[in-house]
Amino acid sequence: MQGLGKDGMQQVAVLGAAGKMGSGIALLILQQFAKLTCSVKENQVSPYRLILIDANEAGFAMLKRYLQDQLKKYAERNINELRALYKKRADLIDNSEMINAFVEEAFECVSLVTMLEECRGAQLVFEAIVEDIDIKIEVFAKLNKLLGPNCYFFSNTSSIPIHTLQERSDLQGRLIGFHFYNPPAVQRLLELIIPENTPQPLISLAEEIGEQLKKTVVHSKDVAGFIGNGHFIREVHFACEQVHALTKNMPLIEAIVLINRMTQEFLLRPMGIFQLIDYVGIEVVQRIAKIMSTYLHQTFGNELIDRMVEQKICGGQFGDGSQKDGFFHYEKGVPVEIYDRVSKKYTSCNGLDFRKKIDDWFGGKPPLGVSWTLLSKDPQGKEKIAEYWKHLLRDETKGANLAKEFRAESRKIAEDLVADRIAGSIKDVDTVLMNGFLHL
Ligand SMILES: NC(=O)c1ccc[n+]([C@@H]2O[C@H](COP(=O)([O-])OP(=O)(O)OC[C@H]3O[C@@H](n4cnc5c(N)ncnc54)[C@H](O)[C@@H]3O)[C@@H](O)[C@H]2O)c1
Repeated sequence: MQGLGKDGMQQVAVLGAAGKMGSGIALLILQQFAKLTCSVKENQVSPYRLILIDANEAGFAMLKRYLQDQLKKYAERNINELRALYKKRADLIDNSEMINAFVEEAFECVSLVTMLEECRGAQLVFEAIVEDIDIKIEVFAKLNKLLGPNCYFFSNTSSIPIHTLQERSDLQGRLIGFHFYNPPAVQRLLELIIPENTPQPLISLAEEIGEQLKKTVVHSKDVAGFIGNGHFIREVHFACEQVHALTKNMPLIEAIVLINRMTQEFLLRPMGIFQLIDYVGIEVVQRIAKIMSTYLHQTFGNELIDRMVEQKICGGQFGDGSQKDGFFHYEKGVPVEIYDRVSKKYTSCNGLDFRKKIDDWFGGKPPLGVSWTLLSKDPQGKEKIAEYWKHLLRDETKGANLAKEFRAESRKIAEDLVADRIAGSIKDVDTVLMNGFLHL
């Protein structure tokens, strides 16, 4: 079993392919199969098959368009490699001819199906359906019967212990956690969750595929939430507690905006924590928190999240990647209005008066006037970031003190993940935070 390819997996299925994660995983596999297809000799049938399964047939048109557009862009970016792959094809001369042939031939290996029965023959299944333990188990158990004992399964679950999924669907030793980050084709991080009874060839297969897909692999212990969500959901819990404390002296909507801006502007992150909750999906966060509460016997859920879901304000993204309304309403990706759960309406939070109120509370801007956007592109970023933290730690404004409290909590969560052996080292936690959450 050598990764994806001639001596490895040739018949692969993606379950939940029309979804946010499934479509990205489908693209990654298709890119590999497209390159492999170029090397198949003329007059030979390509052995590669990518079966894309989703219960929602209506999502197929958008999935197909997404895959075609992205594959074309991929071919354009890798035109030199493509020219080398097609060097024996006298019929392809121009770049555009090669790009079109690449996309067309790649699509010959794709089938879009709604019935599990149609993935017979699959050697490897990537699962990316809804984060619901009973649904996942039902589907795995069905596939196990259909595909037999030689098929392997990679689950994209964000939080469910893999050994529980294995045991309850009778897939012992054939299922591992292969946790991509959103969007899978862009985010470099891949968390591998290998249960104790996993045979070495399957571990090697997972690692080889991770390498083929050019991912930065971090191993996590098989504990609910793993490293990424183990950290994120605890931070969400803490952010909600900070909001709760602030509401003793200010309206809820101001407290949410304040914590959101503090976590972005003072902690140098690409987005504030409530924006990140919107991005992941408020209901998804609620589901993960519930699963972690069940398996870790602690409370990770909170009223702030529950009330939003009750009012059907769930965030997440539309099929084209644009942001749905959540805690915030967005214009061009910027949060401009905040949801007021009393009036059940969005109200401006980006106007001068609102911003000034929050700035006055902070008592000063973050030190050095730097931001994630500037630092993430700066070749001297590392030194500047170190300098920034020194200034922040010395700063005594209310904004800085709140940020220091959050930062200390964030570090404690990381250290606890290591102490509980969920992460092998603090470096592993940092790799997850820097690659999966783009912390600096
Ligand atoms: N969204 C994220 O940021 C993110 C990040 C990492 C991991 N994950 C995990 O990935 C998985 C998928 O999440 P998502 O956000 O892509 O969800 P999604 O709702 O966007 O997609 C799920 C897809 O699965 C399909 N589906 C549901 N039940 C099915 C069934 N029984 N058979 C066939 N298709 C079915 C749906 O029609 C949908 O297209 C979850 O386990 C989630 O926890 C999500």
